[in-house]
Amino acid sequence: MEDFRFNNKTDIRFGRNRIEEELRPAVQQFGDRVLLVYGGQSIKRSGLYDQVKGLLNGLSVTELPGIAPNPKIDSVRDGQKLAKDNDVDVILAVGGGSVIDAAKVIASAKFYAGDPWDLVINASERTKLAQVPVVDILTLAATGTEMNYGSVISNPETHQKLGTYGPNSPAVSFLDPTLTYTVPANQTAAGSMDIMSHLLEQYFDAAGANDVSKGLIEGLMRAVIKWAPVALETPDDYDARANLMWGATMALNGIVRSGNQNGWTVHPLEHELSAYYDITHGVGLGILTPRWMEFALNADTEALFARYGRNVWDLRGDDDQMVANQAIEATYNWIENLGIPMTLPEVGIADEKNFVAMADSAVSVGRLDVVPYVKLNTGDVVSIYKAS
Ligand code: NZQ
Ligand code: ZN
Repeated sequence: MEDFRFNNKTDIRFGRNRIEEELRPAVQQFGDRVLLVYGGQSIKRSGLYDQVKGLLNGLSVTELPGIAPNPKIDSVRDGQKLAKDNDVDVILAVGGGSVIDAAKVIASAKFYAGDPWDLVINASERTKLAQVPVVDILTLAATGTEMNYGSVISNPETHQKLGTYGPNSPAVSFLDPTLTYTVPANQTAAGSMDIMSHLLEQYFDAAGANDVSKGLIEGLMRAVIKWAPVALETPDDYDARANLMWGATMALNGIVRSGNQNGWTVHPLEHELSAYYDITHGVGLGILTPRWMEFALNADTEALFARYGRNVWDLRGDDDQMVANQAIEATYNWIENLGIPMTLPEVGIADEKNFVAMADSAVSVGRLDVVPYVKLNTGDVVSIYKAS
């Protein structure tokens, strides 16, 4: 096990309609000038927007609508200006991971004189800045951003989609599973895949003997595997939505990464797909994950793949290689049954012209030749893209 520091101060308010009593005081503890950040039409259609506006009645609320999936740096620039011009005390983010990710970077950018893209490229500088407190109401179970320090921001001009982190995780996160009843099937599937991928990235880790992490992850994976199909079948099943929501948060709030080396692989590969083709993050992960597994399985790794097969998929048998292969097949089938397209051409990536540039960038951004459980060079990444 590696040394680690674990420090997370996010105040989680989990359950049905807690915002009715708790939103206003949660926001107002930081002041009366609020920047309300949200995405497209989903919170207007569901009625959540009207409810939130009613609850904040009398406070000074400035709005930043239109945060797109794979949030773009231009939205962060707009938010920086609004946050400075209105000297906001607190940011309220209402939406999925994209909205909350953008809000967290805007929270830093208020205290930065230059272009916020600098804060994405250079996160260690960002952690030295102050940050406006972020309160959020999560509407989609996937990223874990509601309880972590990270954000992922895209720059379409440079074909970059990069992770950054700030000095704080959100101050208060409202997790109401009923708010995810309206998430469409394709986003429910993609979100569930994202949770599963976060768990896999931290399970297949180069640190030795971290049975605490592995055991926690195995339990969380079993929960996602069980409840994602239920949420797809019955979108208003509370138990399914609740398990996915808390599972998403637990998968990436820092607990299961503690003691790991934390070299991720499939995420850097996927971020290149989203950067070049603006595809849904969880869909890209669904396509790449089984191909990465096939690539990564070898004599050195088969024992861990077999453990995954036995403890997560209930596979039996003494032959590690056989169980490992069955585990990869089970993973593929689960993803396919969620309704996720399983090849790159199906999501419009029909030629290979950008594969080398994407692979080069993935290796350098993710330090894939140094940190992961199975190290990859540019040629390895290209072959995974080609197999997808
Ligand atoms: O824009 P609106 O109208 O709100 O619609 C959104 C959007 O179109 C819709 N949606 C959200 N909640 C809904 C809903 N529709 C109906 N009912 C609801 N309750 O869903 C669509 C996707 O939303 P988005 O926020 O983009 O999804 P997600 O939460 O999966 O976030 C994905 C982004 O997070 C990044 C991804 O790369 C991607 O940019 N990630 C962030 C991480 C982090 N901060 O720790 C880690 C992850 O690995 C990931 O990279
Ligand atoms: Zn992810």
